Amino acid sequence: MPEIPAVPRRLVLGGALATGALAAGMGSARAGTSEAAAPGRRPGQKSMINVPYEARDTVRVGIIGLGNRGGPMTTGWSVIPGCTVAAVCDIRPDRAKKSADALEKAGKPRPLEFGGSRDSYKELLKREDIDLVYIATPWEFHYEQGRAALLAGKHAAVELPIAPELKELWDLVDTSERTRRHLILAENCCYGRNELAMLRMAHEGVFGELTNGHGGYLHDLRALLFDDTYYTDSWRRLWHTRSRASFYPMHGLAPIAAAMDINRGDRMATLTATASAPKGLADYRERFVPKGHPSWKETYIEGDLTTCMIQTANGRTIRAEHDVSSPRPYSRINTLAGSRGLFEDYAGDDPTGARVYFEPDHSDDVWRGFAPYREEHEHWLWRELADEAENGGHGGMDYVMQWRIVQSMRAGLVPDFDVYDSAAWCSAVPLSVKSLENKGRPVQMPDFTRGSWVGKRPGLDSKQTEMPPVR
Ligand SMILES: NC(=O)c1ccc[n+]([C@@H]2O[C@H](COP(=O)([O-])OP(=O)(O)OC[C@H]3O[C@@H](n4cnc5c(N)ncnc54)[C@H](O)[C@@H]3O)[C@@H](O)[C@H]2O)c1
Repeated sequence: MPEIPAVPRRLVLGGALATGALAAGMGSARAGTSEAAAPGRRPGQKSMINVPYEARDTVRVGIIGLGNRGGPMTTGWSVIPGCTVAAVCDIRPDRAKKSADALEKAGKPRPLEFGGSRDSYKELLKREDIDLVYIATPWEFHYEQGRAALLAGKHAAVELPIAPELKELWDLVDTSERTRRHLILAENCCYGRNELAMLRMAHEGVFGELTNGHGGYLHDLRALLFDDTYYTDSWRRLWHTRSRASFYPMHGLAPIAAAMDINRGDRMATLTATASAPKGLADYRERFVPKGHPSWKETYIEGDLTTCMIQTANGRTIRAEHDVSSPRPYSRINTLAGSRGLFEDYAGDDPTGARVYFEPDHSDDVWRGFAPYREEHEHWLWRELADEAENGGHGGMDYVMQWRIVQSMRAGLVPDFDVYDSAAWCSAVPLSVKSLENKGRPVQMPDFTRGSWVGKRPGLDSKQTEMPPVR
């Protein structure tokens, strides 16, 4: 095992253009502080639970970060009925221009362009004609930019994670409560077709009392991590040199947590992390990366497979995994089980890729393909949007997420998930660091709702509503 260097406090990330950026590294949780302790609310600060968006005709989106994710998502926002891309920003101004040109060419209004420095986004935030800020920059900028968006009076949808540090997650909760603006994780996988049908089945009691679930992000990113043109200035590979963490388990964790009604009657209480040795990236480099490439100066410390075992207050378990360094077909695992049966995604030959088995219908030890059950239990969003979503990213779930956020804002609805859900899902990142530092001992998971997790309330299992007509 390579020696594990101290996590640097001062990082230079987000691209060479961001040189001088101060970003706190994962794993710097202060010694002696309790992971679970909830800071008190300041005067004027109130819960954001069940707080609706203020209704509006059009949602005007400002986008920060126009790379692999932000670029296609910009097109995505622009085609949602009732949504306009009002401004685009990237530290690299040519990307802002390219996005604005593309929208104009597609017959959309030309958005304002911002860029040129790491602080250009602050100019975008000064605009009064922006309602929602979507942030798709490298991880190290999410906290700063999400917080600034709230303070500028905007709602914010932030790519994964909303912040990598526990104290930052708390600060986002507090800032949302103070500003009365929503900040949510842009967790597209919560809107996956299988995930939403699984959620419906769970809530209809098909699997009995839920007892356990597994999810994760298992994606062989090795070629992309070493590609000099994919992740801007290799920001994502660099995280593997500086921290041992479950960097990105939320795509698998969030849908399982939603099915289990986390923050709506149950809560994630403790987390125990394990990590395998870091072998995959060095092995890949040895075989495929020319000597002399800058990566040869790097030492990878992030374990290939990081597993979080989470215990909930109601005695359920969730296993959340992260591995982007090993050869393997893609999987988010997405498995849910209860006293009467189970659902397993990424398994079997069914066209949906999933299978089920539950009593009393099944008692013969034989899996059933998911397709007829998905049709029977289809979430209303997919019944409504399957055709429109067809051309959207990630099998349509990007479109469904964007449609639902815009629809919720236009109709003045409560968001399907909120800053508390987002912070809870993302807390697996810093808490995995803490648990690994503590030789895999369990760590307490904070209750970002400050006691309100007990109450039942709607979430992703929403009632069908009409999109307000577009005038
Ligand atoms: N939800 C999903 O399915 C999904 C998929 C891919 C990526 N992501 C997430 O999206 C985010 C971006 O990933 P990516 O693959 O697009 O990376 P990327 O490197 O392709 O893009 C990042 C962009 O941010 C810009 N940038 C950097 N610092 C900036 C700043 N201070 N101000 C404005 N722009 C800045 C860069 O110039 C670049 O264009 C990450 O959080 C990633 O985890 C999510």
